[in-house]
This record gives sequence, structure tokens and C-alpha cells, in this order.
Amino acid sequence: MIVCVCKSVSDRKIRASIAEGADTFDELQFELGVATCCGKCEESVRDVMAQTGVCASRCGVEHSSYPVPVTFYHQKAA
Ligand code: FES
Repeated sequence: MIVCVCKSVSDRKIRASIAEGADTFDELQFELGVATCCGKCEESVRDVMAQTGVCASRCGVEHSSYPVPVTFYHQKAA
């Protein structure tokens, strides 16, 4: 499904970029050009990020509005 009409970017392309290491909205904007024209796709891009499990603290999406539970792992001090 096309998420960004202006740049012809699909959700599959966004997921592929995330799988390759893009983990912030800014990186997706830089790599794919999403939300750099009219900007109407920003919320949809953030939705795809959240569905993919990208950390809310870096993308600005509140996970409480999504049914997918998010687990944060903390490393214990030695
Ligand atoms: S739809 Fe993505 S910038 Fe216009």
C-alpha cells in the first residue's frame, strides 16, 4: 500500500528501511523522502513505524494508542 503519494513510498519500502536500520522518523525522511513534500503522510509513516516496533521515544508515537505491546529492556548495572 502506498503511504506517501508524493514520493511513491509504500509501507513495504518503509518496513524494509526500518529492517535495514532506519529507526527514526528523520532517517526515513532522509532515506525515502517521506513527508518532505505535502507532509500529509507523516501520521501514516509513524503508524507503520509503531506497527514495526520502532521505539516511541525516538519516533514520537504514543504506543498506548496501539494494540501492539511494547517492551523496553534495561541492562542491569554490573
Ligand atoms: S504524501 Fe508524503 S509528502 Fe505528500
